[in-house]
Order: sequence, then C-alpha cells, then structure tokens
Amino acid sequence: MKKKVIIDCDPGIDDSLALMLALSSPELEVVGITAVCGNVPVDLGTKNALKVLRFMGRLDIPVYQGADKPLRREYISAQDTHGKDGLGESGLEDVQDEKIHPQAVEFILDTLKKEKGISLLAIGPLTNVALALKKEPEVFENLDELVSMGGSYKSHGNCSPVAEYNYWCDPDAAAYVYEKLTSPINMVGLDVTRKIVLTPNLLEYMKRLNQRVGGFTEEITRFYLDFHWKQEGLIGCVINDPLAVAYMCKPHLCQGFDAYTAVETEGISIGQTLVDRENFWKKEPNSHILAEVDERGFMELFLERLCGGDVREIRKILGQIMTEEKIRYEKN
Ligand code: RIB
Ligand code: CA
Repeated sequence: MKKKVIIDCDPGIDDSLALMLALSSPELEVVGITAVCGNVPVDLGTKNALKVLRFMGRLDIPVYQGADKPLRREYISAQDTHGKDGLGESGLEDVQDEKIHPQAVEFILDTLKKEKGISLLAIGPLTNVALALKKEPEVFENLDELVSMGGSYKSHGNCSPVAEYNYWCDPDAAAYVYEKLTSPINMVGLDVTRKIVLTPNLLEYMKRLNQRVGGFTEEITRFYLDFHWKQEGLIGCVINDPLAVAYMCKPHLCQGFDAYTAVETEGISIGQTLVDRENFWKKEPNSHILAEVDERGFMELFLERLCGGDVREIRKILGQIMTEEKIRYEKN
C-alpha cells in the first residue's frame, strides 16, 4: 500500500531534491504539494515546486500556495543560502500556464477530511500546518503521521547556536504544532540531517549514473556548495530535506527515541527545540526524535532512486567514495 502524502515545503534547493526523491519512491503517493514562506517568499517557492514537477514529468500533481509570512515573527528568508530564486540562481524558466492553486491550508484540511491515512511531510516552516490545525483541529484525527524536518536535539543550530531554520523562521507555528497535535511528530532534526552531505565526488557519480538528473542536481546545488564552503569551510552541501523523505519510506534508516519537546518562541534562543529526554517535566511524549542515521544507506537509496543503476554497483562505489570522505570529514 502506498503512503498518501502531502508535501509542505519551501523550495529551496534541498526541498527540490526531496521532491525528486519522493516522486521516485514507490512507497509514496504524493497527493499534493503545498508551499510555505521559508527559504524563499512563497510565490517563488510555489513556482520552484512547479519547475521540479516539470523536470520530473509530474505536472499532474497539484501545487497550492500557502502562508506568505510567519504567524507572528517578521519573515526572514534564507536566500543567502538558496539563492535569490531559491534554486541556486540556476535561472530555470518558470512553468507557463500551470494553474497555481491558492489556499494551501484549505487543501490540507479538505484532503484530511476526505480520507484517513494521509501523512504530512513538512520540510519547511510549520506555518501552513499550524494554520490548518488552528482552523479545524478535529480534522487532524485523520492524520496518519507528521514527519517534520526541523529542530535539533544535541546538534548546534544553523540560524543561531541553538536554532534550526524551519523552527526559527516560524517558532510560534512550530510551538503550536508540538503543543496541540495529538499524533506524534517525527522530528528529523540537524542531529541526523547534518550527516547527509552531498559532495563533489557524489555529484560526479550521480552524473555518471544519470547525466540528466546529475546535471540538474549540479545546476541547482552549485550556489549551495559555494555557500557551505564560505560559511563552514565544507567541501559539499548538507541536504536536509531528502532525509525526511527517505525516513518516511525506510524508517529503519534512522534510530531515535520518544520525548516531550517544546519550542522556544522568545528571546535569545528563539526557535530552539527543548527535547526533554530525561522527562524532567513529566509530560507525555509528543515527538519521536531522530538521533542516529545510516548515511551510507541513505545515499544508496538517494542515488538508486534518483539516478537508477544497480544497487550492488552503487554500494561498491559508495563504499569507495564515502569511506575516503568519512575519514577526511571526521579528521576535520
Ligand atoms: O534548516 C534546514 C531546513 O531549512 C531545510 O528544510 C531547508 O530547506 C530550510 O527550509
Ligand atoms: Ca526546506
């Protein structure tokens, strides 16, 4: 049985790779895409989602435009990281004549109302999800699972010493969802996503496996690679969002634990996820926190599904590439 999923995203370079992976995964049926303000303003993100669907030959999937600002905070984009256009300034043409549906929040609610067993894969700020939950909380009884790329347990932040971008961009939305959602949230945080690094060698291998997909990936990640070098002195780029897709398909790729988690909405640590693993607050767990990841297993799945090729061959070459990189990366 395919898992029916709505992908709520802010494309965004890694969001785009996540969409490509979701559309290449037999476990998932993407019933719709909702865009939210985040990496780029929501109108750009919506257009970028359409560009990815065009590349994947899946313009049959409806795209809905959602919130254009966070619930309370002033909106701060991440165009320094993803480029002004949100796709690494790759300058890809807009999709013409495609219908952009408004009202992402209504789409989420209508879809949940229509049938049980819908999952939500949120790889941007949680503004759309929070607005839907505020509007008709009872409808979320039908939600199968929420997988959210965001937050961090023990890893340092990427927007402040403690805050990850999606929950920092709209901390009120994140806090509301963690407080009010009745089904557990699978938090795919920086503790695991930081280990998913797309390197020049892996990009080179993607192109040899599939020039079209590898070439497209190279085109949209060039800017992102430059950002990582300037910002962190890293040769490679962290692709956070595809791991959330892979986890939804193959949960065994990550290990974690249940805990009560709250999100800070004020002050110097705004956007921080406070994961109460030791249960100081004596509250029922509201989240499943991912702490370990099989990065080699992820990369195998990512390459095989996006580029095709024999998984045994991919495993062999990854063994060579990732072992060398692991040694080098760990040495730093
Ligand atoms: O912190 C990383 C997350 O913020 C990713 O989802 C990235 O696309 C941005 O939305
Ligand atoms: Ca994202």
